[in-house]
Parts: sequence; structure tokens; C-alpha cells
Amino acid sequence: MCGIIGYVGPSDSTPILLACLKKLEYRGYDSSGVGVLDHHSHLIVRKSKGKIKNLEEVLKGEPLPFSNVGISHTRWATHGLPTDINAHPHVNNAGTIAVVHNGIIENYAPLREKLKKQGCYFVSQTDTEVIAHLISVLYKGDLKQAVQKAIAQLKGAFAIAVISKDHPDLMIAARVGSPLIIGLGDKENYIASDVPAILDRTRRVIYLKDGQMAVITMDKVDVFTFAGQKVTPKVDTVSFTVSAAQKEGYDHFMLKEIHEQPQGLANMLKNRLPSGKLNLEGLDVSDKVLASVKKITVIACGTAYHAGLVGKYIIEDLARLTTEVDTSSEFRYRNAIIDKHTLVVAVSQSGETADTLAAVREAKAKGAKIISICNVVGSSLARESDGVLYTHAGLEIGVASTKAYTAQLMMFYLLGIKLAQVRQTAKPARLKDLIKQLQRVPDHQKSLLEQKAAILKIAEANSHFGCFLYLGRNINYPTALEGALKLKEISYIPAEGYAAGEMKHGPIALIDEYRAVVCVAVQSHVYEKMISNIQEIRARKGNVIAVATQGDKDIAHHVDYVLTVPAIDELLTPLLAIIPLQLMAYYVAVKRGNDVDQPRNLAKSVTVE
Ligand code: F6R
Repeated sequence: MCGIIGYVGPSDSTPILLACLKKLEYRGYDSSGVGVLDHHSHLIVRKSKGKIKNLEEVLKGEPLPFSNVGISHTRWATHGLPTDINAHPHVNNAGTIAVVHNGIIENYAPLREKLKKQGCYFVSQTDTEVIAHLISVLYKGDLKQAVQKAIAQLKGAFAIAVISKDHPDLMIAARVGSPLIIGLGDKENYIASDVPAILDRTRRVIYLKDGQMAVITMDKVDVFTFAGQKVTPKVDTVSFTVSAAQKEGYDHFMLKEIHEQPQGLANMLKNRLPSGKLNLEGLDVSDKVLASVKKITVIACGTAYHAGLVGKYIIEDLARLTTEVDTSSEFRYRNAIIDKHTLVVAVSQSGETADTLAAVREAKAKGAKIISICNVVGSSLARESDGVLYTHAGLEIGVASTKAYTAQLMMFYLLGIKLAQVRQTAKPARLKDLIKQLQRVPDHQKSLLEQKAAILKIAEANSHFGCFLYLGRNINYPTALEGALKLKEISYIPAEGYAAGEMKHGPIALIDEYRAVVCVAVQSHVYEKMISNIQEIRARKGNVIAVATQGDKDIAHHVDYVLTVPAIDELLTPLLAIIPLQLMAYYVAVKRGNDVDQPRNLAKSVTVE
């Protein structure tokens, strides 16, 4: 949600800010802006509604002067419409202080009223503008002190960057709840919402912690607590490569990330199952605790929630342990029954999802142990969990999550096997066989990706439908939910996922010749039931696209199109069945001319409630 970039160094800041900002556009893209300090102590701001290319057009017409210090922002609107005026940076009335912000200031309304009484006038509808005015009224010549006093009055989540014309050599950054990193260059320094934005400029980063602020000049970064105490920050060297942040010949990041799944899972299996023995390093929960835990509660949002739903089937089947799954936004407000005998598994690609973080804090307060399944190393969620199982799926840039999902699934299989081992709830031979079959998954996925021409054809033949239903049963009910989510978020076609057995209880009313129905009908103990559901759809003229197991000769008689996946243990089928659905969603969206990597209204990490 919103991306921030700042630069202090010997080069001209504007081109650097724009190049870095483009790499953050996945966080929000409804408006953008840049603010710089020139050599005559002027603070100059340019903004534009829409994507960064619109800002570039504005800058062509009104170029910015050379500047060594600048901040920029790409916005995902929370307070106020996506307009030029609401775009960041926001400035105080004297035009001397500029602020960019990611997050939500919850007490902005009373602050706004108070500041108005003090003579400030507001030009935007944003919550951010109060920060600029607040710093301004508190400024007595020391910018750090003014920022420190201002943030003491802010409630909510924020990552901010501040510059002032009175301090032409520095910028100030601060964070609570929203991510912010500092990139350390050679006589130049950066701030950014995320590492990829600055990856081709530096690998040395400081992950600013909640409650910390930094004063950044060309050759110095000083980090303080909000109370003003100086701290020595840890400097990390980022290991992922620049290529991870580039499309490498693919038309979209989403397509690239779909193709990265076999390798990602192969790497994970290599690390987690060296010589076939399970290594859940990072779990940090003893076997004794795992054996005695009474219940598992999974909390997550969106695609990660769907991975959690698959996790429920895995854990209940293998470990015979009650597993409930809740969306973080519901969990945090429902007074859930959680105690020290509950193991909470929080799932998040980014590790920065505000609702998941709040749900984790709620569960912790009730005494639960928290383990997280997380992709981004060092994220807030990882830091707040008792144990972390990193998926190491690599950087995911496409807004629609793909490779993070299958990595989360794989981690649930490994966790399920671990729980079954310590609780002795599954025969060792069964677990051994599952491990053997898991190791074949990357090759199976590769073979599925080789069928993409066939999937493209089916996608194009069905892209005109105005409504899709996705049906699945048992462990592939979540596959149906995830398939529907993928389609709706990038194609904007209404798509609903349902447990196939629920169809007769309502959704069947939707079926006619104008609906496409995607049925996950792989070989399993509910296969016959799925076939009956398919017959019911066909009897009502629905168009059926089935995901079936290779070698199923019968299915073609019942459906219009078949997408096949290799045969595998029924428990593992979600790892394969989702691949054709990801590709189908992608091709439908491309056919419709949509911006696949930046679908409307969405942002990659949802760092606001
Ligand atoms: C959908 C998607 C979102 C995320 C959700 C949680 O493709 O990407 O639904 O899964 O916002 O994000 P994380 O996993 O970062 O907590």
C-alpha cells in the first residue's frame, strides 16, 4: 500500500527517484509525486493522478532542477480520491516542509481540527497532510526534533519521509507498522518501502524497526528510537539478485512467477528435506509442544488464507489435530477461543499485512504460540512470531500471488508431516511415500507449464464469459476459491469459488448457457461426486472446463474442455491443480487487455486495515 522512495547523494535525485519508484508501482498506482530541494533552497513538488508515466509527462512539461535530496511516492488511496491534489508529497502552508507517507493516521480528524485552529489550511482530503502541518507548527529550527514531536501525536500505522528547505542536505524517515528500509550506498543513501526498488543501486540495507527514525545525509545514517535514544542498526546484505526484480523476457511478472514455481519448490525441498529427512529450521517449537498442542488456528488473508484452508485438510488428515482457519480481519475482532494450548500459524507472503499482524498480536495476548509461514525475510510478521518457516520463494512482484501460494502449500505439507511424526498419527510408510511424491512435484509442475499453449487456447475460447463459477470438493475446494480469486483480480470477471456440494443450495440458480464453470475434478475419493455435480451443470447448459487427472478418459464425455494434471496422491493434488488455473486467469486477463501486474484497485501488500 503506497510506495516511498528517498534519495540523498551527489547525483540528480529526480531520475533516480523515478527509476526506483517504478519498481514500487506494484504497491499502489493511482497517483504519484516527487519533491526535491534545489541548490537555491527551494522545495519543489510535482504530482500527477494515475500511474508514474503520467508524472513523467508532467515532468517533461515542467522539469525539476538538479537536486541532491528528494522524496517520492506512489499512492494507493485510503483517504481522499486519487487526484493530483491528494497525491503525495504533501507540504505545509509555507511550502517549506514536504512529507510522503505510507499507512493510515487514525487520529487525523481531531489533529486536522486542532491544526486548523492554529491557522493551518488544508488543501487535500488526505490524512497525510496533517503530518506536514504538524511538523511545521512544531518546527523551531531542528527538523529531527519537530518530526519526533509530531510522530508522538500520531496514532495508526505510518512510514514517512520528510524533507525541508531549511535542511537541504538531509531527509528524515520514521516508521510504525508500515515497512521502511534504508539503502546504504557509496556517499549516497536511500530510503524505500521495499528492497527491490533499490536493488540495482545497493545491497546493503537497514530494516528500520517499528518505533525508529533516521536522519539521513549523503555520508551518514543515524538511527534513533522515537524517544531520541541513538541505536546502532544492523546492516544486512540482501542476497536476492537484480534479475529477481526484472521480467527476464516474460511479458509480465505474474507469468514469470508462475514459471518460477517448479524451481522454487525444488529449492525448498532440497533445503527442507536434505537426504529425505525433514529439516524445519526456524520452527523453534519443541517436539514436546507440537505433540501436546490441542488445536491449530491458521490466520491469513486472501491467497494465503486459501493456502491455510488447504493446510487444514493436510493437518487434520496427517496429524489428526483440529485445525481452524480464519481470515485475519475476522479473527482479530471475534474473541476467538485461543489459549496456551493453541498453536497459531500465521501465513503471509509479505509479512506486512496489517490485519494478519493485528491478529497475531491478539492471539499472542491470549497466550498462543505463533509460528509464521512467511516469504519476506526480516518482515514484521517474522519478527513478531515465536518461530518462522520461511518459504524462500523469492521476490514476488506480480500483484496476483502465484509462486508464494504453492510455496505456502508445500510448507503446510512439510509441517503436516512433522506434526504427524511427533504425534505418531500416520504410518511412517505413508509419510515416506508422501515425501517421495512431494519430491516429484517440481517435475510435474514443469510438465504442466509445457502445456501452456493448450491452456492459452482454452482461456481464449472462454474469455468472453461474463461470469465464472469455480467448484471443487474436499482438499480442492480451496483450489476452486484460489482459482476464482486469480481470475477476478486480474480479469475483473465476476468469479465465485464454491464447495461443489454447496451448489444445489443456491449457486445452481446462476447456471445457464452464459456461465463458465470450472470444476476441479482430479482423481480422489470425491471424484464421482464431482462428476455428478458436473452432470447437474451440463443439464442446465453450463459450459464446463474441468481440471482432471491425466489418463482420465471418461471426463471428456461430460465437459466442454479438459485441463489435465499428472496423477499424484490425492492429498497433494492442490500443488498441481492450481497451475492451469493460474495460467488460465493470466491468459484471460491478457486477452481482455488488462494490466496483469497492476490490476485496478489492488496493491501488493495491504499494510492498512
Ligand atoms: C491475491 C493476493 C492477496 C494476498 C493477501 C495477503 O493474489 O495476493 O490476496 O494473498 O493480500 O497478502 P500476504 O500474503 O502478503 O499477507
